[in-house]
Amino acid sequence: MSELDDRLHDYVRQLFTDHDDLLGSLMPAAERAGLPQISISPEEGRVMQILLRAIGARKVLEIGTLGGYSAITMARALPPGGRLITLEREPMHAAFARDWVRRAGLEYTIDVREGAALDLLPGLAAEAPFDVTFIDADKPSYPQYLDWALRYTRRGGLIIADNAFRAGAILDPAQADDAGVTAVLEFNRRFAAEPRLLSSILFGRDGMAVGLVLGD
Ligand code: SAH
Ligand code: DHB
Ligand code: MG
Repeated sequence: MSELDDRLHDYVRQLFTDHDDLLGSLMPAAERAGLPQISISPEEGRVMQILLRAIGARKVLEIGTLGGYSAITMARALPPGGRLITLEREPMHAAFARDWVRRAGLEYTIDVREGAALDLLPGLAAEAPFDVTFIDADKPSYPQYLDWALRYTRRGGLIIADNAFRAGAILDPAQADDAGVTAVLEFNRRFAAEPRLLSSILFGRDGMAVGLVLGD
């Protein structure tokens, strides 16, 4: 990103972020706890809230919780009685997220489930359809997560996936053999060509693919 792009991102963040919010303390606490600093950005979070509200989302599935930043952000856009299930493989991340979900007063809205997503997803079919499926875990599994999302996200719902650009690696010939890169490229190709989706990639922190589910 150019320096001007960076300054414009900062400008949007300053203007639209509530700086007294609990989420402002979650990020530095996550860093102190040794979690990677790879959550969605505050300005992307606001866009996700707009998207969730726009489709009237009540039931959301997230694949890849980390410290709970995106889960708490999305849960706040749900109506009373809304539910968000989020899947996390690392016990330390799941424990941190549960702690912050409690601090946010969302323990009855957000359900952090610990385990590898591909092991947990079959059991989630019984709780489908979801209004939104947000994919943000291990990149090599993105095509499998897309298969699941296309099957279990309702018509009029959204499939969203972070890291559609892989920090630019998708255009770098030197990284063409990387398993994460080839999987995200496959994901993006299918996302674009899928007749059941109206889709694009938003230019956020690292490219956020957004697809509206049109039907079968
Ligand atoms: N959505 C979060 C960021 C997620 S980072 C936010 O924006 O706040 C990716 C997370 O996915 C990491 O915590 C990682 O441990 C988890 N993860 C990676 N592979 C996974 C898998 N196979 N199943 C479940 N979680 C996984
Ligand atoms: C990585 C994963 C993410 O979900 C992200 O947003 C940024 C980086 C990673 O695994 O490197
Ligand atoms: Mg991500």
